[in-house]
Amino acid sequence: MQRLGVLTSGGDSSGMNAAIRAVVRKAIYHGREVMGIMRGYNGLIEGDLQPMNLGSVADIIHRGGTILHTARSELFKTPEGRAKAFASMQRFGLQGLIVIGGDGSFRGALQFSQEYNIPVIGIPGTIDNDIFGTDYSIGFDTAVNTVVDAINKIRDTATSHERTFIIEVMGRDSGWIALTAGLAGGAETILIPEKPLSIDELCDKLMRGYKRGKLHSIIIVAEGAASGLEVGRQIKEKTGFDTKVTILGHLQRGGTPTAFDRNLASRLGAAAVDLLLAGESGKMVGVISGRVVATDLQQAVQKNQLIDLDMYTLADILSI
Ligand code: F6P
Repeated sequence: MQRLGVLTSGGDSSGMNAAIRAVVRKAIYHGREVMGIMRGYNGLIEGDLQPMNLGSVADIIHRGGTILHTARSELFKTPEGRAKAFASMQRFGLQGLIVIGGDGSFRGALQFSQEYNIPVIGIPGTIDNDIFGTDYSIGFDTAVNTVVDAINKIRDTATSHERTFIIEVMGRDSGWIALTAGLAGGAETILIPEKPLSIDELCDKLMRGYKRGKLHSIIIVAEGAASGLEVGRQIKEKTGFDTKVTILGHLQRGGTPTAFDRNLASRLGAAAVDLLLAGESGKMVGVISGRVVATDLQQAVQKNQLIDLDMYTLADILSI
């Protein structure tokens, strides 16, 4: 394999640039060529590719977002879109593809690989941390640190005004960001889709704290569990507490990647190149218990990384 392509797809996450850098530099180290594909699969369909060299990935290790830009391609879900993408692969002489993204992007990669017999390797990049086959996906740690920073700041004002604060965080159907940031931020309650809690139970807990003299509370709501605004409205109605809601939204997706995400991205980017050059295909690289491992993409898209319920119980015990 002499020339490979790399693209980022789906929601961006901090550390994707570090992964692109690792892919490009490891491939060049092995004497191979890399083409950067713009805007995910859309760029492949449209033939929007650019040759990458050592300099193309200089000064990006610390930058959030993705220099290749990203998209959720609807066209790539169609046979016509994938046929055009294959035509571009041939036109640009690409013999393998590295896809940095989440499970939706991997589903597309797998189908493309099977239809056209193209070697494909996936690198998990999503703040949601919901990918099977890796303990962490690129961008999750940065997002968690952003949320913890927000909790710290909100805690100051929550204490001063003796208020109840709801902080809604991202994660789609996953509670990983809410749970990890909630435990680190000392949140009183964490609502996650994997462990439903009724508003009555939540209000009972708040009231118990209030009776013990707790005058402010922070509640983290994963977007997949409930609407932060709605939870805030109901708490206010049932308890009468002065309640405010903050929705963190897309600021969780940007910012300079943490050292953890940069190192994860660098290791996974390099490992993806090694796998492709070793003749592997249909795999995703991940980190399990600190070691880089490869998992079948088929498995990665079929299963979800399960939430750590022990962590949830601990967060509950410590927030009493
Ligand atoms: O998958 C990453 C993610 O940030 C989710 O947490 C969130 O639900 C979704 O993307 C938001 O997507 P968009 O940027 O298209 O609004």
